[in-house]
Amino acid sequence: MAFNIAIDGPAGAGKSTIAREVARQLSYIYVDTGAMYRAMALYFLRAGISADDEAAISAGCEQITVSLATENGEQQVYLNGENVNGFIRTEEVGKMTSAISVYAPVRAKLTQLQREMAYTTDLIMDGRDIGTCVLPQAQVKIYLTASVLTRGKRRFLELQGKGEPCSLEEICKDIEKRDHRDMTREISPLKQAKDAVLVDSSDMTVEEVVERILNIVKEKQT
Ligand code: DC
Repeated sequence: MAFNIAIDGPAGAGKSTIAREVARQLSYIYVDTGAMYRAMALYFLRAGISADDEAAISAGCEQITVSLATENGEQQVYLNGENVNGFIRTEEVGKMTSAISVYAPVRAKLTQLQREMAYTTDLIMDGRDIGTCVLPQAQVKIYLTASVLTRGKRRFLELQGKGEPCSLEEICKDIEKRDHRDMTREISPLKQAKDAVLVDSSDMTVEEVVERILNIVKEKQT
């Protein structure tokens, strides 16, 4: 059976940076499930479908194929055969993603694909519901979090680096709103699995978090 590491936690906790590095050190595949939800959101945005229109979103799910590939060590997401990596990281797509990921047909589609990958492959998968719903049998589960202010500051610096105008206060408000929606939705809400290890990265460096997780993996494998 494949060895699976599940990392869940709120937006901006550093999941993808950490998971990518842990995967590199273990020579595991890294699967960013948020990117898969983002690809679906992009489809609905392009189609002009509103996030409130549950019927259109359910019907749209039938028209969508999401797949992943790795190129030069980086995950690439394909939406109906088109590489959409360059389009899914905007604030607009982020907001739409949080809104459409509450719907059952959206989640069912991606959950099945994620389980198929994990069944045969040693991997580290990050998201919101990996330890609780997608891979309840994962050998290692981490719940990675950080304070709203820490996460807001990280996002602020990232946007500033890209030259995008932003305010820390607005970013923190958006983070709280998204956390609330992800944690209170009916299907597969973000929460710590009972058997997940809680890691608060607020006062930790990336290297410290990576080391902590690698130690947890080593303990499980011995
Ligand atoms: O990790 P991210 O910021 O790329 O995720 C974007 C949105 O996708 C997030 O607001 C919630 C949703 N998501 C989800 O519902 N389940 C997952 N496994 C991953 C992401």
